[in-house]
Amino acid sequence: MFIFWFSFASILLIFLLHSLVKFFNPNPRKLPLPPGSLGWPYIGETFQLYSQDPNVFFASKQLRYGSIFKTHILGCPCVMISSPEAAKFVLVTKANLFKPTFPASKERMLGKQAIFFHQGDYHAKLRKLVLRAFMPESIKNIVGDIESLAVDSLNSLEGRLINTFQEMKTYAFNVALLSILGKDEVLYREDLKKCYYILEKGYNSMPINLPGTLFHKSMKARQGLAQILAKILSKRRQMKLQHNDLLGSFMGDKEDLTDQQIADNIIGVIFAARDTTASVLTWILKYLGENQSVLQAVTVRIPLSQFNYLDFLYLQSGDLENDCSWLLVLASQEEQESIRQSKEKFLRWEDTKKMPMTSRVIQETLRVASILSFTFREAVEDVEYEGYLIPKGWKVLPLFRNIHHNPEIFPGPEKFDPSRFEVKALIIIFLAEIFVV
Ligand code: HEM
Repeated sequence: MFIFWFSFASILLIFLLHSLVKFFNPNPRKLPLPPGSLGWPYIGETFQLYSQDPNVFFASKQLRYGSIFKTHILGCPCVMISSPEAAKFVLVTKANLFKPTFPASKERMLGKQAIFFHQGDYHAKLRKLVLRAFMPESIKNIVGDIESLAVDSLNSLEGRLINTFQEMKTYAFNVALLSILGKDEVLYREDLKKCYYILEKGYNSMPINLPGTLFHKSMKARQGLAQILAKILSKRRQMKLQHNDLLGSFMGDKEDLTDQQIADNIIGVIFAARDTTASVLTWILKYLGENQSVLQAVTVRIPLSQFNYLDFLYLQSGDLENDCSWLLVLASQEEQESIRQSKEKFLRWEDTKKMPMTSRVIQETLRVASILSFTFREAVEDVEYEGYLIPKGWKVLPLFRNIHHNPEIFPGPEKFDPSRFEVKALIIIFLAEIFVV
């Protein structure tokens, strides 16, 4: 009997000791934190970040500590990561270990059920529904309408001094509504615009919900948006028609989304789509304005038979050794000319696939401008990455801009050079064909 109690007590003691050790030392392998500095208590390195260009702050840290480092900003300990592998680890392969974090006021304004604030099954379902509405099968029917919106926008600029970003925002808003509500969008455009523009003004205001504050006005405008959407939902249910747009995707019978979930996600997608697209369009215009050869490459419509290479070099004052701009223009003749010849009344989906030059300009703009410099996540448990500990509760910031401006991945990263996205061998074969012809 004594032996039994002795063994039982020993096992209990070992178990208790083990639990105590685990409680006081949750990191038994003693993984180190990533290199870097946490700065002053509580304040951390907030002043250093805010007293200089944030890109310089991040870049100098990366230079000193490498592609993963720790810091402390706005009261939060953070791990910053700036390699494509680490970004994939946090955002894709181990996304379940990192939850999205947003200030509560942003959740209230956009709607708590919006995709950005969720993980797991609900997030995966919304992602599938959003992607479904933006697959070629769904959007190819509205390419001509998007072209009409672009042409109308351009015509409306005639003879006016404009703020490019504001004009691009209007255009992006109209295209967003078209892809969300289909051709019905014109019926609701002005009402939705009125509410959305008020909401947007208060998005970054102090979250004080008292009459007269910007935040309060925004929250009211948000209610207004939800009411308009409720009206559209009820009309669609009465009509019982199938729609290929984003609202149609959210309203699918099988999806079982509540009206609240649909409204939060529609408002969320307008928010995600509008300023991002408008910023990228504005940067594209800036880079095209600064790079005449690229501008010509995506706009010129000289038939190949009339193209005079020597004239072109003279116009460009081109340096053949160092400047591949003539390659750009030569290759683009095919792109623009074939679309011009085959184009019917409106641009078609197939036409958009014949614009590799234009695609490269967009890709390079996304890279150089990196309009979203980083995003936020929070570790939901202690995570090991490359021998370092990312403690539970710490913020994790994948730094997109640092990745896009890493000279080892993109040589001469500050230079706007769409040709870095081309498959060089194809161009050479293509040119060989031209000269043979
Ligand atoms: C060129 C312009 C755009 C850029 C640079 C951009 C960039 C991004 C980035 C970096 C994220 C990830 C944020 C994170 O996970 O923390 C994101 C998410 C998202 N974006 Fe965009 N975006 C653009 C345009 C659009 C458009 C036109 C739509 C319209 C459908 C859209 C809808 C979304 C949605 C729904 C999410 C959330 C995805 C998820 O949580 O799985 N974005 N965007």
